[in-house]
Amino acid sequence: MSKPLPNASDFLPGPVLLLGAPGVGKGTQAKHLVDEFGIPQISTGDLLRENRKNHTPLGMMAEELMSKGLFVPDDLVNQMVAGRLKEPDTQHGYILDGFPRTLIQAEWLDSQLVAYLLPVVAVNIVVPIEVLKQRITGRRISPAGRIYNIYTNPPKVEGVCDVDGSKLEQRSDDTEEVFHERMKAFEQKTSAVIEYYRTHGNRFAEVNGDQEIDLVTKDIRATLLKLRHHPEA
Ligand code: AP5
Ligand code: MG
Repeated sequence: MSKPLPNASDFLPGPVLLLGAPGVGKGTQAKHLVDEFGIPQISTGDLLRENRKNHTPLGMMAEELMSKGLFVPDDLVNQMVAGRLKEPDTQHGYILDGFPRTLIQAEWLDSQLVAYLLPVVAVNIVVPIEVLKQRITGRRISPAGRIYNIYTNPPKVEGVCDVDGSKLEQRSDDTEEVFHERMKAFEQKTSAVIEYYRTHGNRFAEVNGDQEIDLVTKDIRATLLKLRHHPEA
């Protein structure tokens, strides 16, 4: 188990971006940070899936693109994020998971954040591609969004959520074929976003995501302290 911060209320990480390819562990890590810091996770993938489930016009529009591993248009995703950022729980910070994914989204986010107390910090989680395929095809999720993996992070009882006993499901885009399309989109568009933050002074760091989940969390926490120049870093 990783060491907790001496006093979590002593340190609020502000707006944090979790970047990285499909399956690096953005969602898994975001949930740990939410528990620790009490700031919300904003996952654009989860928000779009919620829209799909509720048959909103955005959800219906996004469905086909997501099933093919293609990105949803920037203006629609930006609008969705703008709505979420207006909610009061984002006041002391938030963890953006899977956003921004294009340079247009990154520039839009910068323009939104000028009035914010702290600048965003970006953490890029890095995992070799050959590991990612197994993570994606082995992932199972509970209806409440808890994340498992039949190979690396299995539930105690096969197919059943440890916490609420619900039936685990597989995401429709978690096939090998769609994984390759998602990787293509990542390489063509999101790698430029990673370079954008890498070249923005001291707002960027990389973390090795190819280690046990708790160790990744520990590295991300240490990275956040460092990026925010916290005395404990
Ligand atoms: P989204 O849902 O964000 O998918 P993604 O980016 O492909 O990322 P994933 O959710 O697949 O992976 P993750 O990094 O969260 O990994 P996880 O923690 O689950 O987006 C889906 C689609 O929505 C996109 O393709 C696009 O169409 C659309 N979209 C979303 N955002 C958009 C945007 N901004 N603009 C335009 N379109 C957008 O972990 C994966 C697995 O690995 C799990 O099984 C987990 O248990 C396991 N695992 C995690 N960490 C470890 C570890 N350290 N060791 C071993 N196993 C681990
Ligand atoms: Mg995710």
